[in-house]
Amino acid sequence: MISYKELGLVNTKEMFAKAVKGGYAIPAFNFNTMEQMQAIVQAAVETKSPVIMQVSKGARNYANGTILRNLAKGAVEYAKELGCENPEIVLHLDHGDSFEICKECIDNGFSSVMIDGSHLPYEENVALAKKVVEYAHQYDVTVEAELGVLAGVEDEVCAAESHYTKPEEVIDFATRTGCDSLAISIGTSHGAHKFTPEQCTLVNGVLVPPPLAFDILAEIEAKLPGFPIVLHGSSSVPQEEVETINQYGGALKAAIGIPEDQLRQASKSAVCKINIDSDSRLAMTAAVRKYLAENPSHFDPRQYLKPARDNMKKMYIHKIVNVLGSDNKLG
Ligand code: G3H
Ligand code: 13P
Ligand code: ZN
Repeated sequence: MISYKELGLVNTKEMFAKAVKGGYAIPAFNFNTMEQMQAIVQAAVETKSPVIMQVSKGARNYANGTILRNLAKGAVEYAKELGCENPEIVLHLDHGDSFEICKECIDNGFSSVMIDGSHLPYEENVALAKKVVEYAHQYDVTVEAELGVLAGVEDEVCAAESHYTKPEEVIDFATRTGCDSLAISIGTSHGAHKFTPEQCTLVNGVLVPPPLAFDILAEIEAKLPGFPIVLHGSSSVPQEEVETINQYGGALKAAIGIPEDQLRQASKSAVCKINIDSDSRLAMTAAVRKYLAENPSHFDPRQYLKPARDNMKKMYIHKIVNVLGSDNKLG
């Protein structure tokens, strides 16, 4: 058993309580590579922000769970080396789909896990989440569960259509499972293609998607006052990154995300964790494509991964400061 406490990581409990009270959200950035980890830590340290580094099943398959755990341990040490005396870094399992994977992560240094039973019938979702919570809480590991299904298709996370969270179920679900936070479905979805152009309205030449279901969020908040709410699928898909990718040989069509002003609005509510993965992929790919197109004779990965890392860092800082509002919230 490797406790996250030995690695210098923290769970989400205090972090979320402060975020809900303070009207901001903690960034939950997915990472698969060392460069993403470095960019996340640099951004969190420079902005004095708590941060959640999350690992999907796909990330574990790609990079190996042991390596990712040691990257997270390295993240804590790196943050200190960069001058942050007491970094608040969570290592979180994203979209755990079984008790076994959650247990394996809890036993191997994760400070938080998500059990995603959102595709199961309600009673099965409750039973699975409860089982994970009972195990996790013995080790002071926090648990995110999900009610409602997000639209969108993305590798491991797949749901053909969205079913918004039913506010009438949240009290029963939170009480019976004992979960520490609840991921809800109010119109976000995974990936870089969250809406079709037909679903959007053209405003000053920009395609604006339909708003998130803030009425459902408000009803959930009224039922569970102060309870930490999580939004998945919250990349904004910056059009300048999409344009750079397409300018340098990419072929991304109709990539549309969640407008940042809506995420800012959500951050001021009980939403205290906002998941962002696709925007990091776009920032990395745009920088790599541009660099290689402009320097066709270069072949040292450090040459193109450095601008990729810098571009991700810029994006993370922007999210923290201008969208989620988690800057200067350490301590
Ligand atoms: O929610 C999904 C995340 O973007 C992780 O995606 O399973 O392709 O790593 P992945
Ligand atoms: P995006 O695809 O919008 O970045 O969502 C990521 C996510 O929800 C990870 O769990
Ligand atoms: Zn997700």
